[in-house]
Formats: sequence, structure tokens, C-alpha cells
Amino acid sequence: MHKVLFVCLGNICRSPTAEGVFRNLLVDQQLADRVEVDSAGTHAYHVGQPPDPRAQAAAARRGIDISALRGRQAEATDLHEFDYVVAMDRQNQEALLAISTAETRNKVRLFMEFTDRYPDTEVPDPYYGGGSGFDQVIDMIEAASLGLLQELKTHL
Ligand code: 4NP
Repeated sequence: MHKVLFVCLGNICRSPTAEGVFRNLLVDQQLADRVEVDSAGTHAYHVGQPPDPRAQAAAARRGIDISALRGRQAEATDLHEFDYVVAMDRQNQEALLAISTAETRNKVRLFMEFTDRYPDTEVPDPYYGGGSGFDQVIDMIEAASLGLLQELKTHL
């Protein structure tokens, strides 16, 4: 079993969206029993909360239901448990590196590394912006998910 953890700040916008998009892709490609997916936040602000309604709506517009997901905080044990720990932005990446060890730090990756369809290196935080930010974010997440899946497949 390969394990992928998506990580953002609050675990209510970007990373639960990535979890839903990536899981959907795995189901489509009949790989859901080979790869486990989860998400977490580097902060504890929204632990136990469902995804932001705007993130739920953007995912629903693509036929993806993320309503059952609940926020949790990333922990040092995650770095041992997961094979890929995928950060949405540099701030998340730095927070993950701070709880990693010499053995686990190479698991921490920036999500946008997996696509060349965007010049961006980070998935922008949509929390304080307007609703269209969530559609932009899910576009980026879909592109990066395809690239991550491509890489993962070389290990399956
Ligand atoms: P996320 O977005 O990291 O994509 O889940 C945010 C959610 C909440 C906050 C910031 C970003 N916040 O400051 O509460």
C-alpha cells in the first residue's frame, strides 16, 4: 500500500480538495485499493471541522464529494507513516520539514512540482479571497494530481 498525505495550513480548503480530487482519480483508474490518501493541516485552527463550504461547492461542481472529511493536524508520525507528504505551499513545506527527521525529510514535496502546466510553485491560499479562487485552486490541484499519479504509477 502506498500512502499519500496532502498538507495545507487549515486542512479545510486546499488539502481536503486535493484528497478528494486525488482519490477520485484513483477510483477512475482502478487504483483505489493500491494507494491510500489523507490530508492534514500544519495548524490546529480547524481540527474536527468539515471543509470550507466554498471548497465543498467547488469540488461538487466537478462531481467530487468532500463533505465527510474532517480537519486534523499533521504530526511527526505522519512523516513516518506516509510515502509522499505533499505541501501546498512553502510555508506548509517548512512546517513539515521542521517536524521531519533526516530519514523522512525527503518525503516532503511541493505539490506544484508535479505539473508543468502552471508556472506557480505554490497552490495559493483561497481562504480570504472570493469564491472564484476555489475554482482556480481546484484547476491547479487537478493538474498536479495527474502528475503525482504519473510518478506514483512508476512505483506501483
Ligand atoms: P487551507 O486554507 O490551508 O487551504 O485549509 C486556510 C484555512 C483556514 C485559514 C487559513 C487558510 N485560517 O487562517 O483559518
